[in-house]
Amino acid sequence: MKIAIASDHGGFRLKKQVAAYLQENGYSYQDFGTLSDEAVDYPDFALSAAQAVAGGEYALAILCCGTGVGVSIAANKVPGIRAANCSDPFSARLSREHNDANVLTLGERVLGCGLALEVLAAFLQGRYLGGRHACRVEKIREIEVKFLGRGEADR
Ligand code: RB5
Repeated sequence: MKIAIASDHGGFRLKKQVAAYLQENGYSYQDFGTLSDEAVDYPDFALSAAQAVAGGEYALAILCCGTGVGVSIAANKVPGIRAANCSDPFSARLSREHNDANVLTLGERVLGCGLALEVLAAFLQGRYLGGRHACRVEKIREIEVKFLGRGEADR
């Protein structure tokens, strides 16, 4: 399973911890930047990693910013992305099991490194359950289709 990781400057140090965790636990990952703590715009990096997941090249993405909120909002604009901003392992696991989340977002200024890595582990261990959740995830996809269609008609 290939994993995309990305951050802005506000999540840069946490992204390094995420990379180390993935390395130590045998996950294959690609870093989509940013590559320093110089100030950048989080949508640019969220977009690169989210597109890599939506295009099918990567199974999951882990995105970090100061709160996890900005990268989550940006990633969720990419059709096919279901990004979950999680601060606890329970939500992270259920985001996979119930929501089929394909992106986890984490806030460096919110979470200590220990908790952030527990949230990450729970997300990676979670498996989508399908069943009664499938029609709900399908309804999310239908919302995308509805508004993508309207966007094209407006142009
Ligand atoms: C950067 O200062 C900060 O706004 C960003 O990392 C993130 O928290 C946005 O949601």
